[in-house]
Amino acid sequence: MSSPISIADLQDTALIARLQALVAESPVPAAAISAVLYTLQDARGYIDDVALHAAAQLTGLSPVRVEELCTFYSLVLRAPAGRHVLRICDSIACHLAGAQDLLAQAQAYSGVALGEVGLRGALTVVPHVCIGLCDRAPALLVDGEAAGPVDATSLAQWLEQWEADAWKPS
Ligand code: FES
Repeated sequence: MSSPISIADLQDTALIARLQALVAESPVPAAAISAVLYTLQDARGYIDDVALHAAAQLTGLSPVRVEELCTFYSLVLRAPAGRHVLRICDSIACHLAGAQDLLAQAQAYSGVALGEVGLRGALTVVPHVCIGLCDRAPALLVDGEAAGPVDATSLAQWLEQWEADAWKPS
């Protein structure tokens, strides 16, 4: 039987120290969960199972609860993502302003399903809940930066740039 995943499996002492400091600064360990998850995601690209179990151990939450919170926090990624992450708001104001067309355009360009890595590793497209730019619908997050209103032409410019980058020799 394999041993359970532990914090040490992160294999990054600086990261572990940063996470422990976040928990220590928190009034109760569980309150640090979002900061712990986003710090882990910044360091590892997404929340893999090692990161999930480490977050659970650090905060005293069960792995099942942390998994639920990963679903709740819409910026948390549970799978590898492309170098650029396009989060297109599909809540009501953006939906009415054409978000579904933008989602379809971006997904078609990526060549893969929503949430998967396409365009030679360059792009992941995901729908997202309201990002608070309803007055600028349709809105989206481009690598965490808010933008809106976005139309098919401006979206195409990002996509074409990322496609060009994807084909550049590394
Ligand atoms: S509904 Fe899209 S930003 Fe609020």
